Amino acid sequence: MKLEIDTSAGTLRMSDATQDIQYSLYSREAFEAISRLWLKVGWNEKYPYTFSWLGRPIIQLPEDILRVQEVIYRVKPDVIIETGVAHGGSLILYASLCKAMARGRVIGIDIEIRKHNRQAIGAHELSSYITLIEGSSVAPEVMAQVSQFVNRGESVLVILDSNHTKSHVAAELEAYAPLVSPGSYIAATDGSMEFLDDVPRGKPDWKTDNPSAAAREFVARHPEFVLEQPPWPFNESELQNNITHWPDAWLRRL
Ligand SMILES: C[S@@+](CC[C@H](N)C(=O)[O-])C[C@H]1O[C@@H](n2cnc3c(N)ncnc32)[C@H](O)[C@@H]1O
Repeated sequence: MKLEIDTSAGTLRMSDATQDIQYSLYSREAFEAISRLWLKVGWNEKYPYTFSWLGRPIIQLPEDILRVQEVIYRVKPDVIIETGVAHGGSLILYASLCKAMARGRVIGIDIEIRKHNRQAIGAHELSSYITLIEGSSVAPEVMAQVSQFVNRGESVLVILDSNHTKSHVAAELEAYAPLVSPGSYIAATDGSMEFLDDVPRGKPDWKTDNPSAAAREFVARHPEFVLEQPPWPFNESELQNNITHWPDAWLRRL
């Protein structure tokens, strides 16, 4: 794909073997095309690796942080489960929302919780909201521990952000989806791998081996879930699509 931006003429032209389209630079289409490219260039520059939440590194795009906040405030889950803890910033984000809403607690699962991360999460002002479990997210003994933390009738939201291979995410979806309460979601994050296959830090097999592919196959097998972008609670623009590293991520339980 060739993208030509002419700021003097105010145009954006997209062309490849199958199309040659010109948009006004100041249009929804141009914004979306530039954003798609911005996501790829930014990911290659490790832009999502430059943020923190209340002192802990959070490996997310700010757009995704805002969108997950919108979902959490609407669903107001009793329990937020996340696979993939890393430095703990996303757990602290969810805990801060739980505190603000006076509702909910957080479970984080990681195959390896490094000592300094465990200490920093444990010493954080919001640590009382967080339970850490070390182990593979799909190991039966881990699932048994997670299930013990969830009481019957509680609302549950799940974020999958651990190993992003299609097979691992597929196994996580099968393991964690039964915990999700009606109206809530399970999100298979980082499906952007599907369009990061051709950037210098990406890998060609990501085109097919990615979380979005797992989510699409899961929903085809599970009619009790729908794949949907959560609605925006506020929108005074003509825009409709998330600028996101979590495309085809959100599965809502009917
Ligand atoms: C992308 S990072 C998580 C980022 C974090 N959620 C955040 O927003 O800051 C992925 C984490 O998944 C963990 N991980 C990899 N394979 C795993 C598995 N099989 N089970 C659980 N965690 C795993 C890694 O150790 C790593 O800490």
